Amino acid sequence: MADISVEINRIKFKNPVMPAAGPNVRNARMMLAAIDGGAGGIVSKTVSIKPADDKRPTIRKAICRGLVNSETWSELPIEKMLVELAEVKNAGVPLIVSIGYKPGEVAKLGELIENEIAPDGFEFSTHYTGKSIEPLVEVARSLRSAVEAPIWMKISPNTPDIEALAIAVSEYVDAFVAINSFGPVLDFDIENPIPELGSDYGQGWLSGPPILPIALRIVYQILSVRDKPVIGVGGISKGVDAIKFIMAGASAVQVCSAAIRSGHSVYGKIAAEIGDWLETHGYSSIEKIGGLYKKRLGEQRTFDRIPVMSIDPEKCIGCKACIERGIQGAIYMKNETAAVIAENCIGCGFCQDFCPQSAMQLMDR
Ligand SMILES: Cc1cc2nc3c(=O)[nH]c(=O)nc-3n(C[C@H](O)[C@H](O)[C@H](O)COP(=O)(O)O)c2cc1C
Repeated sequence: MADISVEINRIKFKNPVMPAAGPNVRNARMMLAAIDGGAGGIVSKTVSIKPADDKRPTIRKAICRGLVNSETWSELPIEKMLVELAEVKNAGVPLIVSIGYKPGEVAKLGELIENEIAPDGFEFSTHYTGKSIEPLVEVARSLRSAVEAPIWMKISPNTPDIEALAIAVSEYVDAFVAINSFGPVLDFDIENPIPELGSDYGQGWLSGPPILPIALRIVYQILSVRDKPVIGVGGISKGVDAIKFIMAGASAVQVCSAAIRSGHSVYGKIAAEIGDWLETHGYSSIEKIGGLYKKRLGEQRTFDRIPVMSIDPEKCIGCKACIERGIQGAIYMKNETAAVIAENCIGCGFCQDFCPQSAMQLMDR
């Protein structure tokens, strides 16, 4: 069995899959269900000084198996959330409590929760703190001065300069969580074009598979400037998604939308799939694939001049999958196999993704 346990800020997780803050972990009942579903750790729904008051509906389906939501933070008052957290604290997995938003608020909440619950760590959401770096640093600094436990900073994908932010907050935080949902966005049904969410004009925040590549890029960016753990979150619903984040350098992953769609067992399912993938690929532990993408960056193929696609006639089975995607008219059938008209080829590389035989590669002209 491959070893899928991980350690982040000296907190030990039996597997690297935990829920991301959302309705999937809004109270003790949901957090305990996530543990039953195989989560390696728990992150709570974000709690703030004032309970949220979200107009319904708050969650709808969006394009490409995504979700769009207008949920803000917890609707529970802090006193009630403390009771919920106390129930989960000794449930057998590490507990990370998510809090927000202003400097004074996170300091007050952090101190109170640390005294009452002593969680394994804190995560603070930056979703409503704006895009400027200084106010975000201010929140991190304020929480740092209030608590002893490790602090994870949850990054919003709207932050314009991720690297500058990571550098600026680094001395106050122990790890990063990337990313929160993306937006605001708007989606609706053309058969009934009215707002689908209870928010202003129906706008909301996009999550699930459509945001996975954004999250992956941000995980990579943070790690390119700071050697601190990053927990990847955004669009993960399968073991292979989690593997991709780990290869980008993530130490663990969080899951929200897939749990909302498929239920609490998704955490254990993803964890098992990670183990199976490692096993079948001959890796003994997660550590072996950590940051593999960065390690292989030097293998990136670059071209001084526009290259041309080349097709190996020995491998080509004449399925025409490349011709169907070839809007440049650069590929044609010649004696039962595909061939390239070099002057029409712009060297974009797209057609090779559809070749079932791996018969295509870009070459110097
Ligand atoms: C309905 C909903 C509510 C959420 N609430 C919170 C929250 O309270 N705090 C927070 O930091 N992120 C919140 N998020 C963002 C998720 O934790 C996560 O970062 C984002 O959805 C991307 O992950 P996913 O694609 O797995 O959903 C919420 C997301 C959804 C869909």
